[in-house]
Amino acid sequence: MSSKTQITAQELYERLKNIKVGGQVCQYSLKKCEEFLPVINEILRLKQEMNAVILVHSYVGPEIVYSVADSIGDSYKLSREAVQSTAKIIIFVAVRFMGETAKILNPGKTVIVPAREPGCTLADSITGAQVRELRRQYPGYTFICYVNTSVDVKAECDVCVTSANVYTIVERLPGDKIYFLPDKFMGQNLVNEMKKRGVKKDIKFWNGTCYVHEEYGAEQIFKIRTEYPDVKIVSHPECNAEVVRNSDFVGGTEQMLDYMRKADAKRFLMLTECGLSSRLQSEFPDKELVGSCTLCKYMKSNTLEDIRQALQSPKPGQVVEIAEPVRLRALKSLEAMFKYAEPCAPPQVCE
Ligand code: 13P
Ligand code: SF4
Repeated sequence: MSSKTQITAQELYERLKNIKVGGQVCQYSLKKCEEFLPVINEILRLKQEMNAVILVHSYVGPEIVYSVADSIGDSYKLSREAVQSTAKIIIFVAVRFMGETAKILNPGKTVIVPAREPGCTLADSITGAQVRELRRQYPGYTFICYVNTSVDVKAECDVCVTSANVYTIVERLPGDKIYFLPDKFMGQNLVNEMKKRGVKKDIKFWNGTCYVHEEYGAEQIFKIRTEYPDVKIVSHPECNAEVVRNSDFVGGTEQMLDYMRKADAKRFLMLTECGLSSRLQSEFPDKELVGSCTLCKYMKSNTLEDIRQALQSPKPGQVVEIAEPVRLRALKSLEAMFKYAEPCAPPQVCE
């Protein structure tokens, strides 16, 4: 993790100058970077003074990603960072369920989510009470929750997964009756992927969707492939099955970046939130982004001003609080995730 104490407008501008997502012109001028600077340097000072760590999801605004983040990544990487950090305060610049995950893993730390609208259409599509009812309807099923769920839902499930490890974990799980929630597209992609891998499991799933990823359709892919025959299509498993089938690579947001880092290809269409397209333009300037992307209003409801305010005097709604019995039950599903995702990591040992 980096621990910057100050940055200059020029340094920030160098990271932002190639970001032209959704337009021909970069929305970040050097002047704009100069305007951001007082708030950024105040955040960096407060962070140091208060022994805080700032974890930033790739979907939030690039002016945050490239200025105050100690770590940038996807939900899996950031949950790992939350455990490893020795800071007393975790500022989780993302949405509520990600802050809850950090709090489940770090009950002794203060976890703050600065977002004004910290929701998520997937996490909001199912409650703990609904999972209890499903468990009555499907006895004998292993309940798997995607990380995009509330702590109440995680507490009712057996194993948590993220987009980075969902296929691996379901393949490794001993049970052959699976109830996956809440994403119906990821559920269908899971069924298709298990079939491809020759894994026989009875998989049922809930009917939630991510309003960002459900926007994408295969027709967009066909159109772009006609225009740019050499393009590589990179998509998130929250996209529908037809999009996934017609993509060159499917994975969690960190895996998508890794794919681009290693690919020889020059052109990419990113079927995920615009934050990833911004990262492509900033971090891989010799690669070209084609097509358009969609914004998540929840992730983008984090601002630099909100982060400063949350460090100075957090509002009750920004501080994540979880009742201990619920936390302990939700922790079991996260521990099961780490166990199945990384079976060779301590304390487990592989031959
Ligand atoms: P990641 O697990 O890839 O970070 O995705 C989280 C998310 O909200 C995707 O929409
Ligand atoms: Fe939720 Fe979709 Fe936003 Fe991710 S992009 S936080 S799944 S609404």
